[in-house]
Amino acid sequence: MSPTRPISLTRFLIEEQRAHQHINADLRLLIEVVARACKSISIAVAKGDLGGVLGEAGSGNVQGEAQQKLDVLSNEILLEANAWGGHLAGCASEEMDDPQPIPDVYPKGNYLLLFDPLDGSSNIDVNISVGTIFSVLRCPDGVTEPKAEHFCQPGSTQVAAGYAVYGPSTLLVLTLGHGTHVFTLDRELGSFVLTRRDVRIPAQTREFAINMSNQRHWEAPMQRYIDELLAGKSGPRGKDFNMRWVASMVADVHRILTRGGIFIYPWDRKDASKPGKLRLMYEANPMAFIVEQAGGKATTGRGRILDVQPTALHQRVPVFLGSADEVDVATAYHRDHD
Ligand code: AHG
Repeated sequence: MSPTRPISLTRFLIEEQRAHQHINADLRLLIEVVARACKSISIAVAKGDLGGVLGEAGSGNVQGEAQQKLDVLSNEILLEANAWGGHLAGCASEEMDDPQPIPDVYPKGNYLLLFDPLDGSSNIDVNISVGTIFSVLRCPDGVTEPKAEHFCQPGSTQVAAGYAVYGPSTLLVLTLGHGTHVFTLDRELGSFVLTRRDVRIPAQTREFAINMSNQRHWEAPMQRYIDELLAGKSGPRGKDFNMRWVASMVADVHRILTRGGIFIYPWDRKDASKPGKLRLMYEANPMAFIVEQAGGKATTGRGRILDVQPTALHQRVPVFLGSADEVDVATAYHRDHD
């Protein structure tokens, strides 16, 4: 067989299973099932208006946000795909108040799956990249009907995490704890093909991603950090910085995975009751795992995201992630301030 033959996701997973003891057939099946669901979501997203899937669904989620039709559809696709394989003990979704048990007619497995079925949903109607983010945990021993408390495990216990980005190409980015790898959907073959193995985020960068419209609501260390970047060559870094903000975390994180950068969604006074905008279990933890496996860093501004002990399924956290040197500086400024 030619050594340059493309490596499919299926072959990649089989080879990872052979190389690493903790990867078993159930975990392999789980990833394949999530990837298949992402293909279905990708098809629905690409149809857009032709599929009648744009616009609001007329419902709200547990976060109090208006759900888009594609949020609801993507959630259903992921739930249905993962119900019958026997690999899961339960699912939790950003779009549902409570965890979803596996129906009694199907066998149950040892994994818990958490997902944000369609991240960046404000971008759906304007044809800008959106994505799916997922995280895989082990179900605690002896638990057959997992409740919220069983999902509330620190991100450091994740056994896998990934995201799909529905952009000009559909990509699947995956970590099983041995590097971060990128697969591109070959639409003719209908399968994900490994296109970048073991991506590395450069430690230094000249690019940052933040919603600058919230600047007046930030804490002093955030103001200090961004002021320095905006000072460019005459600031302490002695270099100019560029800014990018897609408002789809998947797209912003994917850019950082590709060419470096720092992504920040800090706490702000606009809604001081919330500890941040992004959700720990569905966004921050899986992205932190992916970024760390690519040599980057991910903190809350005070500590490592993966060390946060969750207290609620839908809790929010501030997020600082990407190129290690910049995450270190931003985190040090917050710690110095306390
Ligand atoms: P949602 O999926 O509810 O649209 O949230 C998107 C998230 C994340 O993907 C993105 O980085 C951030 O919210 C954008 O926030 P702003 O609207 O403040 O720009």
